[in-house]
Amino acid sequence: MANRRLIVGNWKMNGRWRDLPAVETVAAAVGDAVDVALCPPATLIAAAVERAEGTALRIGAQDCHAEPDGAHTGDLSAEMLADAGARLVIVGHSERRQAHGETDEAIGAKLGAAWRAGLVAILCIGETEDERDAGRALSAVGAQLSAALSARAEPERLVVAYEPVWAIGSGRRAEAAEIEEMHAHIRARLDDRLGAAAAPVRVLYGGSVKPDTAGELFAVPGVDGALVGGASLDPQAFLAIAEAG
Ligand code: PGA
Repeated sequence: MANRRLIVGNWKMNGRWRDLPAVETVAAAVGDAVDVALCPPATLIAAAVERAEGTALRIGAQDCHAEPDGAHTGDLSAEMLADAGARLVIVGHSERRQAHGETDEAIGAKLGAAWRAGLVAILCIGETEDERDAGRALSAVGAQLSAALSARAEPERLVVAYEPVWAIGSGRRAEAAEIEEMHAHIRARLDDRLGAAAAPVRVLYGGSVKPDTAGELFAVPGVDGALVGGASLDPQAFLAIAEAG
């Protein structure tokens, strides 16, 4: 049986208090055909949770620290995010891998932290343009997945987002055949690692997902949803993507 689709918006470092009506707009329109979540910056999580209360919209975070508490100036733990009302957390986004030097090992620890705090973890993996050009896309992504899941895995609270680095924010979405091939590869690796327990793990695609091509994306076999950056800042565009799911 196919999993329910999941559409997640990642606001990245965008959003002020004045943008909270966008959360309300999305919350009011979310139906029950697909699961929908929004990950605003941490400063808005608690307020966004309040605006989404009583609706099917879930609010998530964009990153977490591996430890629950401690001397880590400026960081936020998964427990703090859960305390603010977050239900999910993105880990290992390529912007954090690149700008903050996050390693697969660190990302594995963050996954464990998300589960310790009771959150759904959205693990981002994806190849660079150089890796794809060199014919190493499948092996690079497979290695990221295996490394992040090497310690432990809670498949019931795991989502994987395949995000080719070259497709993020570039307006250049991966081709349907590339997405199908990679999603089949990820699914096979999940089956190897987790066996039958891998069934509920949803594999999303992310990277320049837009309303006009969302229908085509969701028709690709193996795509269980989308992680949406830029287009999630416009509630109408984000809702149109969710509707296509
Ligand atoms: P984009 O970002 O939709 O703006 O390409 C996707 C992401 O980084 O999750």
